[in-house]
Amino acid sequence: MFPPLDPNGPNGFFGLDSSFSHEGEAADLVVFGEIPKELNGTFYRIMVDPFYPLQEGNAPIEGDGNICAIRIKDGRADLKVRYVDTERLKLERQANKRLFGLYRNPFTHHPCVRAAVDSTANTNLVFWAGKLLALKESAMPYHVHLDTLETLSYDPFKSPGKTFSAHPKVDPFTEELVVFGYEAKGLGTEDIVIYALDKQGAIHDEQWIKSPWPAFIHDCAITPNFIILVLWPYDADVEHMKKGGQHWVYNKDRPATFIVVPRRPNNLPAGWKSGESRVYFWEHAVLLHTAGSWEVTAENGDIKLYFESSRIFYNVFPTMGPPTDNPFGDFKADYVKWEIDLTKPANTKVADPTVILDMPGEMARIDERFLTKPYEKLFCPVIPPGKQGPIPPILPIGLHAYALLDKASGKTEMFDPGSGCTIEEPIFVPRSKDAPEGDGWVMGMIQRLDVNRSDLVVLDTKNFAKPVAVVQLPFRIKGQIHGNWVEALPDEGA
Ligand SMILES: [Fe+2]
Repeated sequence: MFPPLDPNGPNGFFGLDSSFSHEGEAADLVVFGEIPKELNGTFYRIMVDPFYPLQEGNAPIEGDGNICAIRIKDGRADLKVRYVDTERLKLERQANKRLFGLYRNPFTHHPCVRAAVDSTANTNLVFWAGKLLALKESAMPYHVHLDTLETLSYDPFKSPGKTFSAHPKVDPFTEELVVFGYEAKGLGTEDIVIYALDKQGAIHDEQWIKSPWPAFIHDCAITPNFIILVLWPYDADVEHMKKGGQHWVYNKDRPATFIVVPRRPNNLPAGWKSGESRVYFWEHAVLLHTAGSWEVTAENGDIKLYFESSRIFYNVFPTMGPPTDNPFGDFKADYVKWEIDLTKPANTKVADPTVILDMPGEMARIDERFLTKPYEKLFCPVIPPGKQGPIPPILPIGLHAYALLDKASGKTEMFDPGSGCTIEEPIFVPRSKDAPEGDGWVMGMIQRLDVNRSDLVVLDTKNFAKPVAVVQLPFRIKGQIHGNWVEALPDEGA
């Protein structure tokens, strides 16, 4: 049993705090085992790494975005770490102090910078249309260089609206990036923009809808014909922000809510009117992130949508909500499959979901070559039942083992790095372009809190319980929010 530690916080040097930050490079990292020679690309992780100490009261999703790129080729690994050079970070570096206050509350920022883009670009890194995008849902993407990690531009696609989700989805069959932005007409607005970017980055199928309230819409799911927006039970209230309050306030009275929208406004599914979106809901829960999603059309044309997500019964951001002595309750959470029956009228409750992993799980990934289709293999960071981790079992920071769920057999294999570790969102890389679904490698960063080090593990999905390689970083690195694998470009592959 280890004392509770914040993986991004001080780590106990005689009680002295340190806000460590890194930029730099390290070549030819120590590798135990063998990195498969087929792996040729870069694992881009985006870390929350406040360059200046944050204003007190910020949730752990605030802090400057710092990119950790681990380049893998010929069984070797190199590391590069560089901040996203956001407008915000530039201003603060010029002033050499913190100028920005609470997450997404301009009224708490220094008056001189209230008109600046306050995005930290710290949530996700997505490669699309030849561009690596550093994303935060409060603003537009920053375009960063694939190799140097230099920040090249802001809003590279000249997107509509004012915001761009950190979780756009790639439809691998239509080769589109499906994008949404909420609070898309400004702070606290109910306006949502939805569109797709083609392979060249051109915008099409733009449409605007309204949210039932200014809700935290962090993730979505896509099927061949629909996008499902997943609303978290938090409220945004500009008057509350003006008083110095949080952007989000947890609302126990809100149900888990879904907005279903046809992806192609100029080619609507049968029974849908132009401009129509449909809201469905369940009971109160926080569905942090989605995994797979697909749709089934019956012979009579009736459509059911399916997607999977975590289901969490507590406020994952205690600073964003009414103070309470016991914000997490009994830490109840699991991983589930939802069904949305589109024959049911809008504004009705969906059926109880099916539990697919009966343990707390979050940040799950799939073989994304199959996104929008039914699939079998889920790679899910979990808190295994009966096992004590190094920090309390709060999602998503308390995750400490990787589960490989084969949905066909119901069998779950587990990689457990040991009781002193926390783990992060994994990536999946197929063994080859034509490999069967789920056949390949899962990689993820292990935070070794027991020895104050970070290790990247490479797991073969054919033998999941033991890594084929462990890449040892030369120092403890900050925790990531999300990350993605980008295959080497053809001219780099030789
Ligand atoms: Fe996320």
